[in-house]
Amino acid sequence: MKITEDEQYKEMMLKYNFAMQRLETELNILLKEYEYKKGYNPVEHIKTRIKSIDSATKKLKDKNCEVTVDNLIRKVYDMIGVRIVCSFLSDVYDIVDLIKSTKQFIIKRENNYIDNPKSSGYRSYHLIVLVPIYLGEIVEYIEAEIQVRTVAMDCWASLDHKLRYKFPNCIPKEVTEGLLECSKDIDKLDLKMQSLYNILREYNN
Ligand code: GTP
Ligand code: MG
Repeated sequence: MKITEDEQYKEMMLKYNFAMQRLETELNILLKEYEYKKGYNPVEHIKTRIKSIDSATKKLKDKNCEVTVDNLIRKVYDMIGVRIVCSFLSDVYDIVDLIKSTKQFIIKRENNYIDNPKSSGYRSYHLIVLVPIYLGEIVEYIEAEIQVRTVAMDCWASLDHKLRYKFPNCIPKEVTEGLLECSKDIDKLDLKMQSLYNILREYNN
C-alpha cells in the first residue's frame, strides 16, 4: 500500500494543514501589528509550503530511515515551512525577536546561519517552532520551520538550490568555491545596504 493511502498519513496531513493555517494567520497578525506600530513594512514576501511526499520520502531515505508516517512526524521537522524574506539585515533580527516574543507558538530550536553560515555559504536565520492545534479537548503540537532572511540571501539560496539540484552528482570544486565567494559578496551587499538604510534613518530622526 502506498503511504499516501494510509489512514494515519491522511490524518497527519490534515493536522499539518491546520497547523500551517494557524501559523500563517498568527504570523500575519504579528507582522500587521508591527507595521501598524512602526509605520514600516519590513517584509518583501512570504512563502509557505507543506513538503511534498516525494521530497519528504527522499529526506528519510537520505537519513537511512524507513519510510513510515511515524518517521515523517519524528524525523522530518520541516514538513511545514515558512520563509519570510525581509529587506534589510536589521529587519531579519527584528522579525526573529518578534516571533520569539509571541506566546502563540513555542520556540523549539534556533539556528543563526547568518553569524555562522553553513560551509556551503548558506545564510539565513532558522526557527523551529511548535504550533498548537486544538482537536476537541486535545492539544497537539506540530513542528514547523521558519526561515528568515534578506532578499540578497534569498537570491543566493535560490540560485544555489537551482545549481545543486540540476547537477546533483557532479558539482566541480570551482562551482562550490564560486558559490562560497558569491555568498561573501552577498554578505557585503547586505552590510552596505544596511549602512545606507541607517544613514536615511538618522536623517529622518
Ligand atoms: P536539511 O538540510 O533540511 O536536511 O536539514 P538540516 O537538519 O541539515 O537543517 P538545516 O538547518 O541545515 O537546513 C534546513 C533548510 O535550510 C533546508 O531544507 C534548506 O531549505 C535550507 N538550506 C540549508 N542549507 C542550505 C544550502 O546550502 N543551500 C540552500 N540553498 N539552502 C539550504
Ligand atoms: Mg541541511
